[in-house]
Amino acid sequence: MNRSVSVFFLTSEVLPVVKTGGLADVSAALPAALSELPDETIDIRIGTLAFRGVEKLPGYSLAKTFVARTPAGPLTIRIFEGRLGKGDVPVYAVDPEGIFDRPGLYGEYGSEYPDNLERFSVLNHALLHLPAVMGFSPDIIHANDWQTALSVPLLPHVIRPRTRTKPQRTVISIHNMAFQGVYPLDQWHWTGLPPSYNRFDGLEYHGRLSLLKGGIQFSDVVTTVSPGYREEVLTEPGGFGLSGALRHRQDRFVGLLNGIDDREWDPSSDPFLPIHFSRVDPAPKEFLKQRMRKEWRLFSAEPRPLFGVVSRMAHQKGLDLLVETLFAMGREGNLEGDWAVLGAGDSALEERWRALHAIYPDQIHLRIGFDEALAHRIIGAADFLVVPSVYEPCGLTQMYAMRYGTLPVVNPTGGLRDTVEDGKTGIWLDDLSESGLRRSLRTARGLYLAGKEIGEMKQRAMAVDSSWSNRAREYSRLYRNILDAPPCHNPFA
Ligand code: ADP
Ligand code: GLC
Repeated sequence: MNRSVSVFFLTSEVLPVVKTGGLADVSAALPAALSELPDETIDIRIGTLAFRGVEKLPGYSLAKTFVARTPAGPLTIRIFEGRLGKGDVPVYAVDPEGIFDRPGLYGEYGSEYPDNLERFSVLNHALLHLPAVMGFSPDIIHANDWQTALSVPLLPHVIRPRTRTKPQRTVISIHNMAFQGVYPLDQWHWTGLPPSYNRFDGLEYHGRLSLLKGGIQFSDVVTTVSPGYREEVLTEPGGFGLSGALRHRQDRFVGLLNGIDDREWDPSSDPFLPIHFSRVDPAPKEFLKQRMRKEWRLFSAEPRPLFGVVSRMAHQKGLDLLVETLFAMGREGNLEGDWAVLGAGDSALEERWRALHAIYPDQIHLRIGFDEALAHRIIGAADFLVVPSVYEPCGLTQMYAMRYGTLPVVNPTGGLRDTVEDGKTGIWLDDLSESGLRRSLRTARGLYLAGKEIGEMKQRAMAVDSSWSNRAREYSRLYRNILDAPPCHNPFA
């Protein structure tokens, strides 16, 4: 039995409180897996924000109210407490006087809320005060992305070392380098940090301040979500301007591959699927596909592959290239199969997909919006899941797809390269371009029509174990190593 470790996991998204992307999935599944590791005692608790409606979630209730000193003055913080899924991991969702009670989490109609620095700074202040209020004394503060990065440099200022019961260490996990929390320097006062941090080796970033940079500079360890992405962000353009800061921390920067929640994503029991199947009984997958095709009004009589897309509608995800490629293919009368597409995000991109759908309503099922049930159904029913990302820190949908015997067609970048094997468990694009996409879609259709090989590939994909139960152990090892190593030096603390 290893010695016990306590961790406070800070995140702006966690299922089912609030989700805009994969961060919410990871923030639920990784802590759950850590708490269930055999022979380990990890007391992990989640600190997040009280998005609107949290008080109505089953099992969530108001646990405590306290007043925190924040850069916005003293604020009354309500703590709603619940549990992760069916497990025991506590989730503390903080409500600082309604600042997260808005229709959007980060913004609306494609624009960020103008007071995001204030909102997320207040969140970090509130979360750092929370353990003392809840009678919890974590060894490690584990921050995620720019939204909770400020807690790393802030920790010694909000909680003075001499008032702490034990030394606390910090980890920051980066899920996407494109989002950094960069603000004008004249908003510095919102951070609550002393001005000494306004330096190149602090938070200063090209005449502005960067919250993510603060996390990278001062945490004991920096992680990102796949080994492949770690390599990509150490140089530009992958580092989105922060590759130098990451190289500076290179010996304390690791790439740990994300896993999936294999109970939430299990084709043999998925409550969103009307028909179940598994690796030992794969045949019902075909019935599911036929049933969904009928429901989605995809009426062709000839045998055709079904291509699925479940994605944020963003340039990162390659959905601009894909839609234009499909327009061009359609003009030549060949979409290579039927399509079931679910996505939301960039409104101009959504419009392009709507326009495509209007031309081919009986070959494309399109739903613009966020729909958890439909995500499961598409991933369950499709033959292929198309993920032509320009870059991808890890990506979760390709791993969900493999578990459901749905072969991912991916641009081999970052985590997509680390998780999908070309010709074995999926298909790699040979080039991220219209012609590259056309070639890989043609290959996919050929495999589908040929029959035997695709069956073997589906079997292989379903046999891949991407579960967190194995991968969480790397985080547990990391936590223990951090506690055994000297802390990161912070000259400003
Ligand atoms: P990212 O976090 O970059 O968006 P990931 O692949 O890591 O990409 O995670 C995306 C998550 O969001 C997956 O759980 C996926 O199923 C889900 N998702 C993406 N778009 C939608 C949508 N429109 N409706 C429902 N779920 C979605
Ligand atoms: C980010 C990345 C995605 C990753 C997810 C969870 O949203 O874009 O690739 O899977 O975080 O780590």
